[in-house]
Amino acid sequence: MNHFHYRGGRLFAEDVGLTELAAEIGTPFYCYSTATLERHYRVFADAFPKDTLIAYSVKANGNLAVLRTLGQLGAGADVVSGGELKKALKAGIPANKIVFSGVGKTHAEMKLGLEAGIHQFNVESEPELVALNDAAASLGKRAPVTIRVNPDVDAKTHAKITTGTSENKFGIPWSRAREAYKLAASLPALQIAGVDMHIGSQITQLSPFEAAFARVADLVKTLRADGHTIGRVDLGGGLGVPYAPTDPEPPAPALYGEAVSRAIADLGCELILEPGRLIAANAGVLVSRVTYVKEGEARKFLILDAGMNDLIRPAMYDAHHEIVPVREGAGGSLYDVVGPVCESSDLFGRDRRLPQMKDGDLVAILTAGAYGAVMASAYNARPPAAEVLVKGSEWAVVRPRMSDDELIGLDRIPGWLAP
Ligand code: LLP
Repeated sequence: MNHFHYRGGRLFAEDVGLTELAAEIGTPFYCYSTATLERHYRVFADAFPKDTLIAYSVKANGNLAVLRTLGQLGAGADVVSGGELKKALKAGIPANKIVFSGVGKTHAEMKLGLEAGIHQFNVESEPELVALNDAAASLGKRAPVTIRVNPDVDAKTHAKITTGTSENKFGIPWSRAREAYKLAASLPALQIAGVDMHIGSQITQLSPFEAAFARVADLVKTLRADGHTIGRVDLGGGLGVPYAPTDPEPPAPALYGEAVSRAIADLGCELILEPGRLIAANAGVLVSRVTYVKEGEARKFLILDAGMNDLIRPAMYDAHHEIVPVREGAGGSLYDVVGPVCESSDLFGRDRRLPQMKDGDLVAILTAGAYGAVMASAYNARPPAAEVLVKGSEWAVVRPRMSDDELIGLDRIPGWLAP
């Protein structure tokens, strides 16, 4: 369910026409819908007990305006860098609702988290436990810690976004979990708080989650029997969204919530979840203008002014995104929808049926609110797409497009090359 719909044959974001927006700010741009973000957050949060910490995964869409919108609804944040931590705090998300994940936290990032007083560090290796202990000790603090255990469950998702098997770099292997907790307990500046897991992203079946939750629940009991105080479980994110109309519907948040509750209700633990895609994906579209309609020898190309530098998912994961016209039209043709970047993988979709298109027409690439703008680059010296947030009939540019000069101005010519 989202708030992008046609009115009088034109695509709108809530009450704002995308044609008008494109005329005002130029293309390409990401457009996010507040009502959709709010709806997704509420549907997800309602699937869990009231005191659950919904730590929105900032990596999915870290725009400050998006973070503030979610923060105002009560969301916390799951961050994976000092930059994301600073963003979450700047957006007004309280430190005690922030969890810090990631395999490579540096000493400086740990210090930032400790000084801010975040809720917990999700630690991913034994050397990280030692490093966090040192960082906390140097500040005279104790760091609240969960250890991310790798339940060795196949998430049945794209290989590049699965994280919970023994082949992945993430988490501590299941077989070493008890040892790792023993080590943590021996480090005086660490405070064991609970157990953490995350098995992957864009997961569309319940069974991998159920298998992982069950393993985590068992581990909580084992660790308690070993004498540890386990008061929290963080079950990560990963619930998928439909990208194509023919995709099977992923489990509804309510069913996912029931699976969580079946697994952990009797543990009496504080529950933490880290959804990203589910909240943001369908709350955003990428609007782009057709630069040329090009008749190739074997195929017809729609060459857009957005490229793989703006939205890398199709090139990187063979991801499917629906592409729709901003103005509904008659007729129809099959197009390969491509960007201007000099790479064959700069392809948003092959053989896409669209109305007869001409130069200057607008298209919207759907389900682009998560892992879209955040993964953009300036490849081919192309400043990434602007970002706009809509709320009802209001809209605001929440990240302007950099000018060419601003982008070029980031480079420096050393003195020895001076003319
Ligand atoms: N928690 C942790 C520790 C994570 O690593 C992730 C995602 C999440 C939560 C949020 O997962 P979500 O609910 O969004 O599935 N760039 C890829 C997705 C990478 C996901 C990385 N980790 C894509 O575009 O599909």
